[in-house]
Amino acid sequence: MTILPKLHEIYNSAGLRPLTGHSTQHMFDWMDAPFTRFFDGNSIVGCAGLSLFEIMFLEHLRDYLKPKNILVIGNAHGWSTIALALTFPKAKIVAIDPYELGIELTNKLSAENKLKIKAVVGLSPQAIKPSCAEHLDGPVDFVLIDAVHTNEAIVTDFMGCREVASDDCFYLFHDVVNWKMTEGMKQNQAVSGLQSRLLTRTPSGMAVLFNTIPDELAAYLECFSDNTQLLSAYRDLVRQTMVKDTFGEALASLKGAA
Ligand SMILES: C[S@@+](CC[C@H](N)C(=O)[O-])C[C@H]1O[C@@H](n2cnc3c(N)ncnc32)[C@H](O)[C@@H]1O
Repeated sequence: MTILPKLHEIYNSAGLRPLTGHSTQHMFDWMDAPFTRFFDGNSIVGCAGLSLFEIMFLEHLRDYLKPKNILVIGNAHGWSTIALALTFPKAKIVAIDPYELGIELTNKLSAENKLKIKAVVGLSPQAIKPSCAEHLDGPVDFVLIDAVHTNEAIVTDFMGCREVASDDCFYLFHDVVNWKMTEGMKQNQAVSGLQSRLLTRTPSGMAVLFNTIPDELAAYLECFSDNTQLLSAYRDLVRQTMVKDTFGEALASLKGAA
């Protein structure tokens, strides 16, 4: 069964109405429209958490993965942390973020809903080792990285996570395409020797790194990825259709003329 109604109910009952999954076209071309913020009765709060579509992608991972220890870098109001707890109810989860109110809220929602989350005030990478040692039972086998959105930071975050993770850990990175972090991802892939997929069909352009995964999961990931050449050709075609190329048309009309 989908986690979506429960995830929404948890936030609604805390007085935070999720605003998520909107089309950029429906919101004045606002790039953040698909991502998750909340209405608290007075204003909009939160910082661009995983979009509705990305949560839907995430929840199906439970059909292929059975993590026991999960680490979240960048918790904000806990949206993706709680989604992970609902997706993998048997796993213990540690979430790290310097934002104290978000950590307090996440721990409160976790306790009220009997989830196995420990949210910790701290900064990656320093807080990773002590938090995992204190609150998890063994090596981390699932990581979500969604904190500082620079190439340097996703490398530092990833290196910190590697120190507490199993060889078969599955890493999910949010916002890789939208925040131009593909160089950092390439570095993470090269240093680790793990396999990578850029999930070009997700709103933020998420990416994954993994060692060995079941064929069924590889096939699932392919549904959210693209063949680079085909995608480039598709984009060129779309560009030609959408952008009225007056000069190109003029040149084409001259073909054959002296
Ligand atoms: C985009 S938000 C995370 C959204 C969250 N994953 C969700 O889906 O709702 C980024 C968060 O990273 C946190 N952050 C910034 N620097 C950090 C660091 N060094 N370690 C951990 N978290 C950090 C910020 O406080 C912010 O809450």
